[in-house]
Amino acid sequence: MSLSTIGLHPIETASKDELMALQLTRLKKTLHHVYNNSPVYKRKFDEAGVHPEDLKNLSDLAMFPFTTKADLRENYPYGMFSAPMDNIVRLHASSGTTGKPTVVSYTQKDIDTWSDVVARSIYAAGGRASDIVHISYGYGLFTGGMGAHYGAERLGCTVVPMSGGQTAKQVQLIQDFNPDIIMVTPSYMLNIADELVRQNVDMNNLNLRTGIFGAEPWTDAMRQSMEKSLGIDAIDIYGLSEVMGPGVAQECIETKDGLTVWEDHFYPEIIDPLTGEVLEDGQEGELVFTSLTKEAMPVIRYRTRDLTRLLPGSSRIMRRMDKINGRSDDMMIIRGVNVFPSQIEELICGIEGLAPHYQIELTKQGNLDSVTVYVESDKPISHDIQRNLEKSLLTQIKTYVGISSSVVVTPPHSIDRSEGKAVRVLDNRNK
Ligand code: DLL
Repeated sequence: MSLSTIGLHPIETASKDELMALQLTRLKKTLHHVYNNSPVYKRKFDEAGVHPEDLKNLSDLAMFPFTTKADLRENYPYGMFSAPMDNIVRLHASSGTTGKPTVVSYTQKDIDTWSDVVARSIYAAGGRASDIVHISYGYGLFTGGMGAHYGAERLGCTVVPMSGGQTAKQVQLIQDFNPDIIMVTPSYMLNIADELVRQNVDMNNLNLRTGIFGAEPWTDAMRQSMEKSLGIDAIDIYGLSEVMGPGVAQECIETKDGLTVWEDHFYPEIIDPLTGEVLEDGQEGELVFTSLTKEAMPVIRYRTRDLTRLLPGSSRIMRRMDKINGRSDDMMIIRGVNVFPSQIEELICGIEGLAPHYQIELTKQGNLDSVTVYVESDKPISHDIQRNLEKSLLTQIKTYVGISSSVVVTPPHSIDRSEGKAVRVLDNRNK
């Protein structure tokens, strides 16, 4: 039976006690599974002096060591797997900024679980079996395209597997196939939106009603701007390849108040990024995930580097996480002030006349870091208006972010467009 006919999965409306009991059973099983099948985890647990039997309740997880991207790199390509290659049906990989890519693997059961959580996510975003879903996340080693694809099919939707790129063709197919839902990174959606305008497409003639946007940070201000200009609901989807891919957490259309973590499969913790101490729900810190059902490559206390906080459930029993407004490695420290690109994005979206296309360049002037924000105007403008817009953003950055910067307002379409994840920060400090 498809999800659409049965509605929510029973666990989405179970009691907190039922959810926690399920988590505990699954967590114990996963700890034994990795200890018995992954030499890396056996060594890590032994070195930390812990054994799967030590876990009596969920909070005991804090005794176990963290896993980081470095563990995946050091054990490249297959060293982190907890299942024999015979049982592995799929690999994905993500390329980092340095060194080797990180490789992740799935058994057939993992692919089924992943399809289920993505189907559940699309359903939470208001998708139903009768919908046509246009997927512009990249297909390939990146988990976005295939993850979204299998989930949409599992829900019973009609899938258009467009992948990223070929923006003019994306718009043509959106007109011809008339999808109800688009799944794409928010920055590439902006790019597609420009092309819709260029091709004189009237949004009122399209069925498109929902965008399921993720794979990179985007602000509520960006949501409002996209909802207004495109006339759609813009809903957030979160995930990471090390944990599964898209569909680890999903915003519900009825509340749009942060992302429900599918806690029956992925156990979240928030830690202090400096001390590693587990923080209470509600406190902001680094998000850490432990797999509860994965077979091929479960991760134990994987440090995502994403900064957020956990909130009580609203439309589902599971806890929510706040929209992610930054990663600890995206954080710029400008003359001692911590700055995230999302803070600048929010200000840009609030200024009439600026388009949400921007890039932040870091350079060195003598010993000091210097910041230049390049942002497009939304139409061709006079020199005077350009100066006013620059002054207005510069003043707001000084007031609300607390740093001195330079602002350059550039003509429409002058900043490089993304076809996947946007590059918001250009670090030219060592050039
Ligand atoms: O980006 C998986 C994905 C694909 C998620 C499509 C959603 C949609 P990775 O390439 O491994 O996996 O990158 C994971 O991207 O740790 C976050 O820093 C960031 N990220 C993903 N979703 C969001 C989001 C995919 N909704 C990394 N908001 C994560 C903010 C996000 N950041």
